[in-house]
This record gives sequence, C-alpha cells and structure tokens, in this order.
Amino acid sequence: MQRLQRKRIVLGVGGGIAAYKSAELIRRLRDQGAEVRVVMTRAAREFITPLTLQALSGHPVFNDLLDPAAEAAMGHIELAKWADLVLIAPATADLMARLAQGIADDLLTTLVLATDAPVALAPAMNQAMWRDAATQANAELLVQRGMRLFGPAAGSQACGDVGPGRMLEADELAQRAADCFARGLLTGCRVLITAGPTQEAIDPVRYITNHSSGKMGFALAEAAAEAGAQVTLVSGPVHLVTPQRVERVNVVSARDMLAACEAAMPCEILIAAAAVADYRPEVIASQKMKKDPGSDDGLTLRMVRNPDILATLAQRADRPFSVGFAAETENLLDYAARKLRDKNLDLIVANDVANPSIGFNSEENAITIIDRQLQQNSFPQTSKGKIARQLVAFIAERYHRN
Ligand code: C5P
Repeated sequence: MQRLQRKRIVLGVGGGIAAYKSAELIRRLRDQGAEVRVVMTRAAREFITPLTLQALSGHPVFNDLLDPAAEAAMGHIELAKWADLVLIAPATADLMARLAQGIADDLLTTLVLATDAPVALAPAMNQAMWRDAATQANAELLVQRGMRLFGPAAGSQACGDVGPGRMLEADELAQRAADCFARGLLTGCRVLITAGPTQEAIDPVRYITNHSSGKMGFALAEAAAEAGAQVTLVSGPVHLVTPQRVERVNVVSARDMLAACEAAMPCEILIAAAAVADYRPEVIASQKMKKDPGSDDGLTLRMVRNPDILATLAQRADRPFSVGFAAETENLLDYAARKLRDKNLDLIVANDVANPSIGFNSEENAITIIDRQLQQNSFPQTSKGKIARQLVAFIAERYHRN
C-alpha cells in the first residue's frame, strides 16, 4: 500500500554524515507515493551533492534563500504552503539549536518558521552531542512546540562511538512520515499509560527500585498520540523526552503513581508498562541512616507490599479496557496468563526479559499478546517504536471490537 499517496513532503537535509541516507530516504518516500522537494543547508552540500538529490527527487534542489531563479520557480513561502509535512533528516545539533531559537538565516530555517505543516526532525549526531544538556533542552522545547522527533536510534556511529544519535534508517523514517497522516485509530479515546520504574525511599539518600528505562511506555504514549488518542503518561524517574501531544505526570513512588493514575481517571484504555516496585520500606527514615563504625552488622529492612496499580484500576466500576505487561525470566506464557486472570485484564503483553537483546534497557523488543480466551499473537523482534505502533493498533482493534 502506498501510504503517502499524493502527499507533499519537503525534505530538509542538514549537514551531517547521515546526509548520505537522505538519498535513500527520497526513494523510500517516493515508493510510498509522496512528492518530494529537497531543501539543503549549506553544510549539507559538503556531504552530498544537490545533483544526486535532484536526480532522486525528480526536481531541482532548493539551496539558497536569495536565489532569484529558485524563487521564480517556487518562492520559499509558496514552498512552505505547498508542504503537507516538513521532514528534516538529518537534523544536526546546530540545526536543532537554530530552530529552537527561531533563527531564520537560511532557506530551511525560514521555511520551518513559515510553514503550517507538521514538522518532523530525524536527529543525527555524535552520542555525546545528543546527550548534552543544551541539545536535550532544545529537543524538549521543539517537541513542546509541536515538532515530532523521529529517533535517534542508538548504535555504532561514524566517529567510532557507540550510543544514541544515529539517524533512523530510511525505511523507518518513511513509515514514520506515513504515520503522520494515519487516520486516528484512537481518535476521541483517553488513554492512560504508566511507564518507567518507581523509587521507594529508604531514607533521604537511598532508595529501592526496579530496572526500567521507560522506553517502551514512552514509545506507546507516542504511538497512541499518533493514533489520535488523548494520552496521559504517568512516569517514574526516567531520562526521556516527553512525546508531543502527550500530557506527562512525573511521580516517584508506587503510591504516588497510583494517586496520579486515579486523578487521571476516567479513561477508556489503560496500558500499564511501568515496572512498579512490589515492596517499599515500612518506615522511611527522616535522616540519612548512619553505619555503626564499630560493627560489620548488616541492615535489616522491613518491607511492606505496594498497591497494585493496574489491578486496582481494573477493578473499578468504571474500569478501562486494561492492558498489562508481564516481564518474566522463565515460564513466560504461563505466568502472563495467570496475571491476566488475577488482575482482571483484557490483554497482557508478555516479554522475556532474560533475553538481553530485548530486555530492560535495549532499543528492541519482541512480544506475545494474550487475550482473555488465552489466544496468543506474537510480534517478532524489532524497534520498541515499531512494536509500540503494532501494539497500539492491536489494542485499538480489540477495544473497538469489545
Ligand atoms: O505482578 P507484576 O508486577 O509482574 O505485573 C506486571 C504488570 O502489573 C505490569 O503491567 C505493571 O505495570 C503492573 N503493576 C502495577 N502495580 C504494581 C505492580 C505491577 O500496576 N504494584
């Protein structure tokens, strides 16, 4: 299916080594039926020639703001109006900083200010540059203003580093571009998502927690918002950018998370992806607990059970369509089926956290969804973003069938 049939995409190409992937991206966008016009920054032309991108897009490439010939063919304001989507790939740290500041000193940045179309950025840079507080603040600001971030992915980089900052592959970017136009499977639905770990204080310095990066919950929030849902994301402490059009509530402990979820009710769909601590210390010391210098004795903490957030919400009279996760290291499907029944769920998503390639901090996941009839649907290993979109589509279909 050509998911971008007759869609008009302005592809902005920034100056980074990932610009070579933009050539492939033009082909993938056109394969999906899109019309593509390319705008390059001056730095981009150091990495790839306009001629290459002209040949692939089938149209002259726009380079300069003050080029009379280009302005005569299609002025920059006309181009801004022509676009159904502006996709910037690669979006360098410098380009993101200029966009965050509203600087309009070249054709691409001017066009972004002038357009009413959605703008999506595919960041590509060295991992330390991506992690830098300035870049993170710019990314957060751009998302708050309604721009979409596609990626970045993590992995090995052209400079030899390993980490987040790789531009997504052309195929994935073309899919994401198509998702921007997808008719909302969840339009009008309120979706509540829990994500990340909880932290249970022992004293003002120490706490007990679970492994969880929050990536799966955040990817689900992004996918549900893309599907048109009104999303509330209740998150434990994580280092992730809030997806656009998602209302985020930050919490620390399991009890905070339950209170925030109850405050966000009613909703039509609940997806509990948080790794909630099952126990908390019975007493939280008000001062830092000191070691006894004269003794090697250990410490005994008495722990009490935390509330089960998912089970609590799934038992309410106004219970939402409830989806839980079962992260297990053994007997995955048995334990998952038991949880589905015990917590009164509609669906449970089983994932095998003993496998390091799809575990807690990885970029990928593979899941099996089990329904009340104990029917299983498996989704093979792929990026958490893709799995999230598949899962949201599955949940939407089952919710509407209900
Ligand atoms: O019982 P277990 O922790 O394995 O169940 C996992 C599922 O239950 C997940 O969906 C998790 O978000 C949810 N859960 C919860 N509150 C708890 C414990 C788990 O919402 N206290």
